[in-house]
Amino acid sequence: MVIKKVCCIGAGYVGGPTCSVMALKCPNIVVTVVDKSRDRIAQWNSDKLPIYEPGLDEVVKQCRGRNLFFSTDVNTAIKEADLIFISVNTPTKTSGNGRGRAADLKYVEGAARMIAEVATSSKIVVEKSTVPVKAAESILTILMANQKPGVTYQILSNPEFLAEGTAINDLVHADRVLIGGEDSPGGQAAIEELCWVYEHWICRRNIITMNTWSSELSKLAANAFLAQRISSINSLSAVCESTGADISEVARAVGLDSRIGPKFLQASVGFGGSCFQKDILNLVYICESLNLHEVATYWQQVIDMNDYQKSRFASRVIESLFNTVSGKQIAILGFAFKKDTGDTRESPAIHVAGKLLLEGAKLHVYDPKVEHEQIMEDLTHPSITEEPEEVRKNVVLYNDPYSATSDTHAIVLCTEWDEFVKLDYRRIYNSMMKPAYIFDGRKILDHEKLEKIGFTVQTIGKRLSRTVVPRAWASIVQV
Ligand code: NAD
Ligand code: UGA
Repeated sequence: MVIKKVCCIGAGYVGGPTCSVMALKCPNIVVTVVDKSRDRIAQWNSDKLPIYEPGLDEVVKQCRGRNLFFSTDVNTAIKEADLIFISVNTPTKTSGNGRGRAADLKYVEGAARMIAEVATSSKIVVEKSTVPVKAAESILTILMANQKPGVTYQILSNPEFLAEGTAINDLVHADRVLIGGEDSPGGQAAIEELCWVYEHWICRRNIITMNTWSSELSKLAANAFLAQRISSINSLSAVCESTGADISEVARAVGLDSRIGPKFLQASVGFGGSCFQKDILNLVYICESLNLHEVATYWQQVIDMNDYQKSRFASRVIESLFNTVSGKQIAILGFAFKKDTGDTRESPAIHVAGKLLLEGAKLHVYDPKVEHEQIMEDLTHPSITEEPEEVRKNVVLYNDPYSATSDTHAIVLCTEWDEFVKLDYRRIYNSMMKPAYIFDGRKILDHEKLEKIGFTVQTIGKRLSRTVVPRAWASIVQV
């Protein structure tokens, strides 16, 4: 088989960028991205794409209508494709067995059933979504149970490692492409077909192949390791705040060991994003199902430490503001889970803002890319509040950082957007109530300069000169 047509089911943060880059790099392949959401597809076909991702607009403009198509006609795209990516969402289950931990595979199953129903020729079906180990087996079972005469299937695992905000670069210059398949002549041939697609732009030595289960587990493992580094550094940030050590200095010293390396050691208010928590919970669930309770407990700690970090940061804001934020005006700068994305899934800002609202604060929220409706939807979600109307009254959304911070008691910086580093903080200080506080949850600001302006500054993993030592551990520090 020579791959001429590719279909991707799911036009989200993964399906959209992945297929756009594939279309860019493989002009000889027609790539059709389909989704059941009419709105999403309409946005992909418009000038305002449904996701903000640096460099994506240019790639889409170059390929759309040439060999890249976005459509809701799922059946036709499946029927015509030689190779089908499943890039649908795999959220944490919210009910039933494994609720709150296991991955909900209903969308993957739905996609597999659609393929089974529609396909009239042989297909290579590729799991791009992040799934539990052995999910490929379930897909194959569904396909084989509905197999039509003359139609054969090969299932491959090809997990995606892109990070939001850097997706285009991650896709064009991938550290590695991982392909898992069956150890049979058919499986190996399918692996070769997919390798051929990637070889249009990724050199062969960076395309690694393995068995399907290793590939599925490697994806969960990679996310778990990345998140573990953040939780490790964040755990030590608490020690720094209590002792006078500086977490940036510790991270530098540790990261210069070439065996450890410097990446993913940035202490923060906590990690967010749609995947770290979901994928580790999924790993924990798999371990528990396998009776590997010690392993499950080990990985659960990564999540627990992240929850602790988010709560600890929010509590510090409240404690510093004389232990009450009731009726106080607080500016939240940044709502996305990281810079250069408009995505708020599991954003630490939601947790911090939710806790401040619960304590009666009035929030002024500004983010350069997140839609206002999204912020309100996140803050009025039942997991955050039982009183959505109160939240609506106590949250004002702004289009610029200067109006957002004016007349506030404190600024809480939750996302590391570059523009926050360059703001005119003297102007902001002059417009705020005094004492004016800044809580830098990302360690990106010039704290010395801010203190000189007059701000009381607090950050993660460093005790600044004016930081008040809470009474509970003042005695330990003196010793
Ligand atoms: P998403 O929610 O942004 O997109 C998924 C899309 O699939 C939605 O638009 C939904 O409407 C569509 N969909 C679901 N069922 C469908 C069906 N039966 N037919 C047609 N469309 C259907 O999700 P995402 O962030 O793109 O993540 C997708 C998968 O990739 C997840 O498993 C995730 O863990 C994994 N992943 C995500 C990232 C990331 O940065 N977001 C990175 C690597 C891997
Ligand atoms: C992450 C992984 O980096 C990708 O490889 C993976 O494909 C993806 O999850 C996925 O499976 O969805 P993403 O969540 O988009 O990508 O973004 P990251 O850059 O990993 O950041 C995740 C969170 O960790 C953000 O909130 C970020 O601010 C935080 N972070 C990151 C830190 O707090 N400190 C760091 O040093 C790095």
